Formats: sequence, C-alpha cells, structure tokens
Amino acid sequence: MIESYIKAGKIVSDIRSEASKMIKDGTLVIDLVEYVESEILKTGAEIAFPCNVSLNEFAAHYTSPANDETLIHAGDMVKLDLGAMVDGYIADSAVTIIANGNISENFTQDEINLHEEIVEASAAGLEAAIATVRAGVELSKVGAAVHEAISEYKLNPIFNLTGHSLEQYNLHAGISIPNYDNHDGYTLEEGQAIAIEPFATNGEGIVNDAPGHYIYSYMANKPFRMKSTQKVLKYIQTNNPYVPFSGRWITDKFGERRGNTALKQLADAMAIYPYAPLREKKDCFVSQKEHTVIVEKEGCIVTTI
Ligand code: CO
Repeated sequence: MIESYIKAGKIVSDIRSEASKMIKDGTLVIDLVEYVESEILKTGAEIAFPCNVSLNEFAAHYTSPANDETLIHAGDMVKLDLGAMVDGYIADSAVTIIANGNISENFTQDEINLHEEIVEASAAGLEAAIATVRAGVELSKVGAAVHEAISEYKLNPIFNLTGHSLEQYNLHAGISIPNYDNHDGYTLEEGQAIAIEPFATNGEGIVNDAPGHYIYSYMANKPFRMKSTQKVLKYIQTNNPYVPFSGRWITDKFGERRGNTALKQLADAMAIYPYAPLREKKDCFVSQKEHTVIVEKEGCIVTTI
C-alpha cells in the first residue's frame, strides 16, 4: 500500500515538473491538461481526476472542454492540480505558477508583487501544515497553521475549501483538512493518507460556484429512455466508477452534441454529480499548493515532493 502511494507520488511529481514548463504566454490550456493526462497514462498509472487548470480568480474545478480555446497569458496565476492512481492509491498535488512572458504588459509592478506574495503564501501555508502533521494531531491545529502562515502575508486562506483524506479508489474519503482553525478535534492516525491544499487570496477567502460544468463524478444507476444516454452511463460505470471524470473524455468518445446531451440528462437525474468551477467571491486572484502525505508517528512522508 505505502509502495503504491509512493509510486503514484513520484509519477505526479515528475509530471508536475515537466508540465510546469508549459505554463507560459500563449499555451492553450487544453494542451496542458491533455499533456498531463496522457503522461499519467503512459506510466501505466490511472488518472485520479481530470487535470485541473484554473486561472486567476478561479480556485479549482476547471478542466478544458473539447476544443477549448482558453489561452494562458503572461502574468496569469495558473493552478495546475493533478492526480494519479497506482492500484487505486492516489497522489494528489497542485502548484501555482505565474505564466512567463511579457508580464508588465498586462500588470503593474504593484500587481506583480502582490501576485508573487499570493503564490508564496499558499506555499508557506502548506509548509506550515506539513510541519504539524503526525499521528495524534488535531485537524484544527493543521488548519490553524495554514491560516497563521497565510496571515503573515496579510492575505486570506480560502475558508470554504479544504484538503481531504484519501483511500483506495477514493479521492475524498470523508475527512476534510481545514485551512483555518475550525475547531475540528478529529485526530490524525498513523498510516492515514491525506491531501493538504491551502489556497491564498487577497480577496475575502470565499469561493462560489461559477457557471459551466467540466468535471463530474458517477453517483448512481438510473434508467434512461434515450439510448445514447444509456450508453454514456454504461461507459461511465465501466471506465470511471470511482473517481471524477472529464466531460471532455465523454465528448471525445461520443461526439460533442450526443455527449453533452447525455451529460446534462445524467446530471439532471443525479446519475452523475457535476462540479462547478469555483471562483473567488471578490474576483481576486487565488493561489494553491498541495501535497499528499502519509501520517507517521512522529511526522509524515510527503509522497508528491
Ligand atoms: Co486534492
């Protein structure tokens, strides 16, 4: 089990580094997500969730739809969040990179400085959180460490986003790792795998649902009169029964019109769950940094370092 967590972590770490080099002015978001997903598959691992690439005021849950024309521009705050599974054991990691290029064309020097601090703050939050992790520590202590580290930059964490426990074939296994002291007295146990993911912003620190759905999870079997919808559901049950999948994978397989019609019907009937992209309430920039760790008696192993 631990070996599989470590192996998945190494895959994610290597691909994260390579993919980070693509984050620059003029890169198509879809090229970045398809690179990440195909590289994961090339290793023989499975994709734990669609590669998320969320820009600027978007914190998470965006992945490219088919034919996505979204471009990365110089100075964009790009969150790259990826996950791989080995025998069902998941590595989940995210990094924020300010896209290279002629940044001063798009932002003032004050804005550039602020953006760099936002990126540093989530990294500091993650580092502080990891330093607290060991068997027996209360979740509220981990959250407090994140909040304190981000506050030193006079910034806010995203209060309504959390990390999560991981189990075999289960990306969100029931325990939430807070990004502030939420008074959760639950204590971590030796051997537990958790993803810690602080977000930082100069905004209020709240995210709301934005329009559109690009990522889904299978929920339940339901009957459908339309044959093509039935076929799409069967496909999801066979290929993506446990962890989130991309709408793009469905439209690539079934065509855009048929695929999107089926996804809408499936979501309306609650056969699948649609995730909305998450946008900062004041439209302020958001950074994120995430690692997967395994709790030990006197500390933790960071699998995605
Ligand atoms: Co995560």
